[in-house]
Amino acid sequence: MSAERVCTAAELVANEARRVVLSGVPIALVKDSAGDIHAIGDTCTHGEISLSEGFVEDDSLECWAHGSRFSLTTGKPLNLPAYEPVPVFTVEIIDGDIFIDPTITKAV
Ligand code: FES
Repeated sequence: MSAERVCTAAELVANEARRVVLSGVPIALVKDSAGDIHAIGDTCTHGEISLSEGFVEDDSLECWAHGSRFSLTTGKPLNLPAYEPVPVFTVEIIDGDIFIDPTITKAV
Protein backbone atom coordinates (compact mmCIF):
# COMPACT_ATOMS: atom_id res chain seq x y z
CA MET A 1 0.00 0.00 0.00
CA SER A 2 1.35 3.41 -0.84
CA ALA A 3 0.49 6.86 0.36
CA GLU A 4 -2.85 8.26 -0.75
CA ARG A 5 -3.50 11.86 -1.69
CA VAL A 6 -5.93 13.38 0.81
CA CYS A 7 -6.39 17.05 -0.04
CA THR A 8 -4.29 20.17 -0.37
CA ALA A 9 -2.60 21.63 2.69
CA ALA A 10 -4.24 24.97 1.92
CA GLU A 11 -7.72 23.43 2.30
CA LEU A 12 -7.20 22.77 6.00
CA VAL A 13 -8.24 25.40 8.51
CA ALA A 14 -5.82 25.90 11.40
CA ASN A 15 -6.93 24.43 14.73
CA GLU A 16 -9.78 22.46 13.20
CA ALA A 17 -9.83 18.70 12.71
CA ARG A 18 -11.03 17.03 9.55
CA ARG A 19 -12.08 13.37 9.39
CA VAL A 20 -10.85 11.40 6.41
CA VAL A 21 -11.17 7.68 5.76
CA LEU A 22 -8.34 6.08 3.81
CA SER A 23 -8.63 2.40 2.88
CA GLY A 24 -11.20 2.03 5.66
CA VAL A 25 -8.98 3.68 8.28
CA PRO A 26 -10.55 6.73 9.96
CA ILE A 27 -8.00 9.49 10.44
CA ALA A 28 -8.21 12.92 12.08
CA LEU A 29 -6.23 15.47 10.10
CA VAL A 30 -5.23 18.61 11.96
CA LYS A 31 -3.31 21.73 11.00
CA ASP A 32 -1.97 23.24 14.21
CA SER A 33 -1.52 26.93 14.89
CA ALA A 34 2.11 26.72 13.74
CA GLY A 35 0.92 25.37 10.37
CA ASP A 36 2.19 21.83 10.94
CA ILE A 37 -0.13 19.08 9.76
CA HIS A 38 -0.77 15.99 11.86
CA ALA A 39 -2.67 12.77 11.23
CA ILE A 40 -3.80 10.58 14.11
CA GLY A 41 -6.34 7.79 14.46
CA ASP A 42 -9.81 9.31 14.55
CA THR A 43 -11.43 6.85 16.96
CA CYS A 44 -11.09 7.63 20.66
CA THR A 45 -9.63 4.68 22.57
CA HIS A 46 -12.15 5.20 25.36
CA GLY A 47 -15.26 4.86 23.17
CA GLU A 48 -16.45 4.86 19.60
CA ILE A 49 -16.23 8.61 19.28
CA SER A 50 -14.79 10.49 16.33
CA LEU A 51 -11.97 12.65 17.68
CA SER A 52 -12.28 15.03 14.73
CA GLU A 53 -15.64 16.12 16.19
CA GLY A 54 -13.72 17.36 19.21
CA PHE A 55 -11.53 20.36 19.86
CA VAL A 56 -7.97 21.22 18.88
CA GLU A 57 -6.10 22.64 21.83
CA ASP A 58 -2.42 23.52 21.47
CA ASP A 59 -0.82 20.30 20.24
CA SER A 60 -3.68 18.01 21.21
CA LEU A 61 -7.12 16.91 20.06
CA GLU A 62 -9.76 16.61 22.76
CA CYS A 63 -12.54 14.02 22.68
CA TRP A 64 -15.83 15.82 23.21
CA ALA A 65 -17.41 12.89 25.05
CA HIS A 66 -15.36 12.70 28.24
CA GLY A 67 -12.51 15.12 27.71
CA SER A 68 -9.44 12.99 27.07
CA ARG A 69 -6.88 14.97 25.07
CA PHE A 70 -4.66 13.09 22.62
CA SER A 71 -1.22 14.38 21.63
CA LEU A 72 -1.05 15.19 17.93
CA THR A 73 2.59 14.11 17.84
CA THR A 74 2.58 10.92 19.93
CA GLY A 75 -1.09 9.87 19.87
CA LYS A 76 -0.94 9.36 23.64
CA PRO A 77 -3.78 10.50 25.86
CA LEU A 78 -2.69 13.33 28.13
CA ASN A 79 -5.43 12.71 30.66
CA LEU A 80 -7.99 10.11 31.68
CA PRO A 81 -10.37 8.44 31.06
CA ALA A 82 -8.63 7.21 27.88
CA TYR A 83 -5.32 5.51 28.62
CA GLU A 84 -4.39 3.86 25.32
CA PRO A 85 -2.86 5.85 22.45
CA VAL A 86 -4.30 6.32 18.99
CA PRO A 87 -2.03 5.64 16.01
CA VAL A 88 -0.01 8.44 14.43
CA PHE A 89 0.50 8.56 10.68
CA THR A 90 3.26 10.16 8.66
CA VAL A 91 2.12 13.15 6.65
CA GLU A 92 3.94 13.96 3.44
CA ILE A 93 3.34 17.18 1.59
CA ILE A 94 4.29 17.13 -2.07
CA ASP A 95 3.66 20.24 -4.15
CA GLY A 96 1.07 21.39 -1.63
CA ASP A 97 -0.83 18.08 -1.62
CA ILE A 98 -1.12 15.97 1.53
CA PHE A 99 -0.29 12.27 1.26
CA ILE A 100 -0.80 9.68 4.00
CA ASP A 101 -0.19 5.93 4.02
CA PRO A 102 -2.92 4.58 6.33
CA THR A 103 -1.16 1.23 6.70
CA ILE A 104 2.01 2.65 8.26
CA THR A 105 1.97 4.16 11.72
CA LYS A 106 4.86 6.17 13.09
CA ALA A 107 6.88 4.74 15.90
CA VAL A 108 6.85 7.46 18.54
S1 FES B 1 -15.19 8.40 24.44
FE1 FES B 1 -13.46 9.70 24.27
S2 FES B 1 -12.97 10.20 26.33
FE2 FES B 1 -14.67 8.87 26.51
